[in-house]
Amino acid sequence: MSDDYRSIARERMKGFCRVCPVCDGRACSGEVPGMGGLTTGASFRNNVSALANVTLNMTVLHDVKSPDTSTKVLGMELKVPALAAPIGGVSFNMTKEDVSEDAYIDAVLGGCAQAGSVGCTGDGVPPFIIDAATKALKTHKGIPFIKPWEGKELYEKLDRVMDCNPLAVGMDVDAAGLVTLRKMGRPVTPMSTAELRQVIAYVHKKGQKFIVKGIMTPQDAEKSVAAGADGIVVSNHGGRILDHCPGTAVVLPRIAAAVRGRLAVFVDGGVRTGVDVLKMLALGADAVLIGRPVCVAAIGGLTEGVSAYFTTITQQLSQAMLLTGCSSIDNISPEIVYCA
Ligand SMILES: Cc1cc2nc3c(=O)[nH]c(=O)nc-3n(C[C@H](O)[C@H](O)[C@H](O)COP(=O)(O)O)c2cc1C
Repeated sequence: MSDDYRSIARERMKGFCRVCPVCDGRACSGEVPGMGGLTTGASFRNNVSALANVTLNMTVLHDVKSPDTSTKVLGMELKVPALAAPIGGVSFNMTKEDVSEDAYIDAVLGGCAQAGSVGCTGDGVPPFIIDAATKALKTHKGIPFIKPWEGKELYEKLDRVMDCNPLAVGMDVDAAGLVTLRKMGRPVTPMSTAELRQVIAYVHKKGQKFIVKGIMTPQDAEKSVAAGADGIVVSNHGGRILDHCPGTAVVLPRIAAAVRGRLAVFVDGGVRTGVDVLKMLALGADAVLIGRPVCVAAIGGLTEGVSAYFTTITQQLSQAMLLTGCSSIDNISPEIVYCA
């Protein structure tokens, strides 16, 4: 992403996001609503530091000359195993009138498509978040994430997004802990495996795939398999749900060892560069989701900003694969991670 987009984003985000040189949650601790992590911000910072603590075995004596960053996950052909994470409510949370929710989410999905990636859409209160998401999903391919609402609102929203023929449907089950919803008088509660199974069966009946977002333990991953999920996102919601969670890069290997091969394993939290993508794949993910940096790219540079960001991620991943001797995504293994 060019510095121009970043300075435009800094101006447009008017103090809600400082667009720091490294997006690590230190400057914005406790800023929820806003871009920060909850309370002390430890979970957000842990995501970034967990990835920074993973170091790589550089190797240059091999015959890998031009690594292939493309892959197929849940039937999606991706030029790079990195998607835009669902982020809803940017227009009222962060930028006020500079970038509307419609323009924002259209830029995320359009920019991802332009770069050979896929964008996800978010959900929340007020309703213009889902309105903007459904508009964008009618123009571009994407994955909508719905909150685990109680009663008929859940099924109404599922119907609305499924009518757009998305690539898959997701649910951020960890939204049960969101203080932003609580503050708006719309708390949601955790889901039992039986309740989740019912929702997934409803989505499968319409011929669509289902992804469960907010998995931080092998036990919850097993429950997602038991409920019939097609994918999970290992995620602590960017540190916005529960303070003092471990970084996702720390919990990922055990979760992947438990369920990989039975469903697609996505992960998010602190992924900023192509090298971070490589690390998450080496730790067991099939693909990553990227949150805040895509948000900054969209606010600062709209479709072009998002597309440029994913092109940079692709180039960085290719270079990192070259220097770790990985010719393809399938060839990325835990062996490239340095162990003392
Ligand atoms: C401002 C903001 C809004 C978010 N809104 C949603 C949402 O609507 N649905 C959702 O599943 N996750 C939401 N998330 C979480 C992201 O999808 C993702 O899990 C997180 O940002 C990943 O961490 P990263 O930002 O460090 O990459 C939101 C995150 C932020 C920062």
